[in-house]
Amino acid sequence: MRHIIKDKNIVIGISGGIAAYKSAELLRLIKKQDANVRVVMTHNAGYFVNPLTFEALSGKPVYTDPFEKGGNTEIRHIEWAENTDAVVLAPATANIIGKIANGIADDALSTFLLAVTCPVLICPSMNTNMYNKISVKRNIEILKKDGYFIVEPVSGELACGTSGQGRLPDPEQILDRLVYCLCPKDFKDKRVVVTAGPTREHIDPVRYISNPSSGKMGYAIARAAEHRGADVTLITGPVNLEPPVNVKTVSAVSADDMAKAVFDSVEHCDIIIKTAAVADYRPKEKARQKIKKSLGEITLILQKNEDILFKLGENKNNHILVGFAAETQNLEENAKDKLARKNLDIIVGNLVGERIDGNDYGNEDEKSPVFGMDTNKAVFFFRNGDTEYLPLMEKDMLAHVLLDRIRDL
Ligand code: PMT
Repeated sequence: MRHIIKDKNIVIGISGGIAAYKSAELLRLIKKQDANVRVVMTHNAGYFVNPLTFEALSGKPVYTDPFEKGGNTEIRHIEWAENTDAVVLAPATANIIGKIANGIADDALSTFLLAVTCPVLICPSMNTNMYNKISVKRNIEILKKDGYFIVEPVSGELACGTSGQGRLPDPEQILDRLVYCLCPKDFKDKRVVVTAGPTREHIDPVRYISNPSSGKMGYAIARAAEHRGADVTLITGPVNLEPPVNVKTVSAVSADDMAKAVFDSVEHCDIIIKTAAVADYRPKEKARQKIKKSLGEITLILQKNEDILFKLGENKNNHILVGFAAETQNLEENAKDKLARKNLDIIVGNLVGERIDGNDYGNEDEKSPVFGMDTNKAVFFFRNGDTEYLPLMEKDMLAHVLLDRIRDL
């Protein structure tokens, strides 16, 4: 996500709610993405967290008072507004929500918000009864209609001692939605199906054949496609990752489960991206009980799983079909063979091994671990014969580069 938000001017607006302390963590997280962050606060927000905290964390003055003396303060809200790429208002109280919905500008934050023209992400956080008040709901609906992005509060224990909807979501989730606001919506109205992770082929109830796929590559693609406006279905093998926001996520354990889920999901879709490391074989017999080692040496007979991608290629309509290939040798030859045999538009090749240095692919030894890593060094092979060698990069970024190439097709 970093490349989307890097060097962007982000303003965090903070109004007077107890969740204001979480904004400090949000600020740190956004700064970690190499964005420039500034803070505008209401006077009441200062009762919860002193502006000095945000000044120290952002390394920039905090704007709290349109009438403060000294400097070029008269036009600060206009100047900041003109140079801001996105605003995140967290926490947003019922009061500031009411002001924005009705065009009221009577302090630093509300005046600044009236002056900005960039995307604004609003994160309401308050007591459940306040959140459910008809007037607040009405104001939030107005904001949605006016083009503001809203992150709904989550349910849980609230500072007032009650429990219900009203908590500010985790900073990671707010960052994810901020990236959503900043991304172009060039996949709007596109239906995208992505597969991710490994499959497990059970030998008995407690043992299985699998591979080290973590799902990170596929999840990054699903997230990137959602950020770019696509309607995304993610079919995932067993992994330890949070499902991406606003993505329909379907779980599958075996290759057989994955095949069913894929064939159920691909009707009317525009793009299918098969990142999953699907097991090619499964045990012919699955023992109903745990196999005991007292039986001595055992032989496992494996039978072939259906090749999901091959079948999709056979029945290809107008959709774009993208496969992945993790190879330990002869990357080009093996990947190109799969590209042709499975009737693909693009295949993403990964040369799997121990080394992750930055040299080019002239040498077979230039390999990266790929599985489980946050980075990937990939090669795109296109149906028209073109090849694109990419440097080692974050899987999040690779996902966007792949979507760029798919868009260009
Ligand atoms: O999950 P990560 O830890 O982030 O790792 C990412 C990855 C290494 C798993 C990913 O980048 C990758 O390379 N995935 C493909 C793994 C592979 O080697 O696939 P394959 O060569 O067995 O299959 C080629 C293509 O056919 C793949 O798109 C696969 O999804 C598909 N296939 C394979 C077998 C099968 N029975 N059905 C299929 O659809």
